[in-house]
Amino acid sequence: MKLMNDLLIRAARGESTERTPVWLMRQAGRILPEYRQVRKDAGSFKTLVNTPDLASEVTIQPVEILGVDAAIIFSDILVLPEAMGLPYEIAESKGPWFGRTVENRHDIEGLKIAEADDLSFVLKAIEQSKKKLAGRAPLIGFAGAPWTIFAYMIEGTGSKTFSKAKKFLYCEPALSHKLLEKITLSTIYYLKGQIAAGADIIQVFDSWAGVLSPVQYREFSQRYINLISEGISEVPVIVFAKGAPYSVTGFAQSPCDVIGMDWTMNVKEYRTKAPNKTLQGNLDPCVLYAVPDVIKQETEKMLTAFGPDRHICNLGHGLYPDTEKEKVKFFVDTVKNFRHHTVIH
Ligand code: CP3
Repeated sequence: MKLMNDLLIRAARGESTERTPVWLMRQAGRILPEYRQVRKDAGSFKTLVNTPDLASEVTIQPVEILGVDAAIIFSDILVLPEAMGLPYEIAESKGPWFGRTVENRHDIEGLKIAEADDLSFVLKAIEQSKKKLAGRAPLIGFAGAPWTIFAYMIEGTGSKTFSKAKKFLYCEPALSHKLLEKITLSTIYYLKGQIAAGADIIQVFDSWAGVLSPVQYREFSQRYINLISEGISEVPVIVFAKGAPYSVTGFAQSPCDVIGMDWTMNVKEYRTKAPNKTLQGNLDPCVLYAVPDVIKQETEKMLTAFGPDRHICNLGHGLYPDTEKEKVKFFVDTVKNFRHHTVIH
């Protein structure tokens, strides 16, 4: 099926576009009453994720309701550790939780290298989403970065500091690399499965990049993300290292196509350090709590800073659940209506 709207793919490849494409991290979710209804009927988050009919239904909702230029497959980064042998739960309003965690060599050796077929429910959801989208917008596949997955496998839950996972890096560097290698290989198989099922582009989420030092980041995270970018040549790859601005230099020299930015990162600096990459981001999601005038002003300021080309408009992290749907729609419309001034000499 040919894409009728391929703005995102063209921007990711560095081609000029008539306007800047826009989508939002966590666009499918609690800000949409339509999502909450399907989620309620499903009974639990995991049932929603594990049922392709329902997962594909909420995947396409933001395209239909918000008018974004891409859908992102409705799933979670934690399905991968589950496929490797560590089942997760999402406790209502408490976030993710693992009954079993990784503590030692024995635990690491016991983990399976996941193959795409171990996650067939995600692949089916991708196939169904592609059918339902019928070319109206590209579909983004995704996975967690190996370090972020490692952090959940060791901690067993979310954490402000991820000190248990960092302790493992300092005390057991060789074992850490063993685990990161297993996660990386599983991730490449999984992403290749997503692409075969129809994903048009891939995003790698390194949500906990920001807790590492720059030196640790290069050794324990960036090199594995770069292995993933090297392994995926079928479609463009977006890398998003939240909270790690020093990573731009390394990513600029890696084979990724797009570098994601949070709202603390400087556009000029990124343009200078990564002139050959498309950039994605980076509005503070809290701007969407403001009145429409402020949303418009901040959004246009951001669009002007990035310029007309090599930019995919997004937030600097996921939407917060208490954001008003109308404000999100206003943000999307502001981006779609904006035209860069052309200077005529
Ligand atoms: O972006 C999208 O719309 C696609 C869906 C998506 C979800 N999780 C659905 C979800 C994506 C891309 C993710 C990725 C994910 N999951 C990340 C990386 C991105 C980020 O936010 O940093 C991380 C760290 C996770 C792990 C995870 N899953 C957490 C920390 C939580 C709890 C957070 C919360 O707000 O409760 C989840 C649960 C989760 N994943 C929800 C959704 C919509 C909320 C659960 C619900 O609706 O009941």
